[in-house]
Amino acid sequence: MQTFLKFIISILIFAATPVQAIDIVAGAEIAKSCGACHGAEGISSEGIYPHLAGQKAAYLIKQLRAFRDKKRTDIVMNATASQLSNAEINDVAAFYASLKLDVSENVTPANPKIAAKAAMCLGCHGSQGQGRGSFPRLANQQPEYLATQLKAFKTRKRLGGPMNPISNNFSDQEIVELSIYFSRLNISKKP
Ligand code: HEC
Ligand code: HEC
Repeated sequence: MQTFLKFIISILIFAATPVQAIDIVAGAEIAKSCGACHGAEGISSEGIYPHLAGQKAAYLIKQLRAFRDKKRTDIVMNATASQLSNAEINDVAAFYASLKLDVSENVTPANPKIAAKAAMCLGCHGSQGQGRGSFPRLANQQPEYLATQLKAFKTRKRLGGPMNPISNNFSDQEIVELSIYFSRLNISKKP
C-alpha cells in the first residue's frame, strides 16, 4: 500500500512540474550578449569565432553544457556559459539553429585531392557537411576555427569522442586543407 501511495504521489508531483517549452524569442534576447563575437545574426566576422547560425541545436546544447562544466576549455566561453541555465541554453541553441548560415562568397573550390580524404567525415557530419543531430555542421564554418579545433582534438586540448583518434590521421597541412574544404562546401546554394 505504501508503495502504491508513493507511486500516486510521484505521479502528482510529475504532473505538477511544468514542461519547459523551447522559447526562441527568449533565445534571441540571450543571443544579444553573444553578438559581439559571434555576429548579430550568428555569422561572425573573425576566424577565431565560430559561426553559430545554422548549427545543430543538439550540438550547441552539448557544447554550452561542456563549457559550463569546464569539460571544454575556453576562458571566455567558460565564463559565458556559467551564466546560463539549462533552459536558457536550450533557448539560445534553438535560436541559432533557426538562423540561416549564408556565406555565399565562399565558392572557390578547395584542393580536390583533399576531397577524397574528406569523404570519411561525411558519414557523421552529413553528406554535404551540413551536420546531423549532435554531429556539428562543418559546411561554411570559419576555416581558421575548424583548423584550431582539429588541432585541439589532435593534441587532446579538446576531448571530442571519435574526433581525438580521427584527428591523429592528419598532418597540420592536411588539417588546414580539410578546414578550407569544409568552409567552402556551399550547402546554402543546394535546394
Ligand atoms: C568575447 C567573445 C565571445 C562571446 C561574447 C561569446 N563567445 Fe561563444 N565562443 C567564443 C570563442 C573564442 C569560441 C571558440 C572557443 C574554442 O576555440 O574552443 C566560442 C565558441 C562557442 C561555441 C562552440 C561552437 C562550436 O562550433 O563548437 C558556442 C556554442 C558558443 N560559443 C556560444 C556562445 C553563446 C550562446 C554566447 C552568448 C551567450 C557566446 N558564445 C558568447 C567567443 C565568444
Ligand atoms: C564517427 C563520427 C565522426 C567522424 C567520422 C568525423 N567526426 Fe568530426 N565530430 C564528431 C563528433 C561527435 C563531434 C563533436 C565532438 C564534441 O562533442 O566535442 C565532431 C566535431 C568536429 C569538429 C568541431 C566542430 C566545431 O564546430 O567545433 C570538427 C572541425 C570536425 N569534427 C571535423 C571532422 C573532420 C574533418 C572529419 C573527417 C576527417 C570528421 N570530423 C570525422 C564525429 C565525427
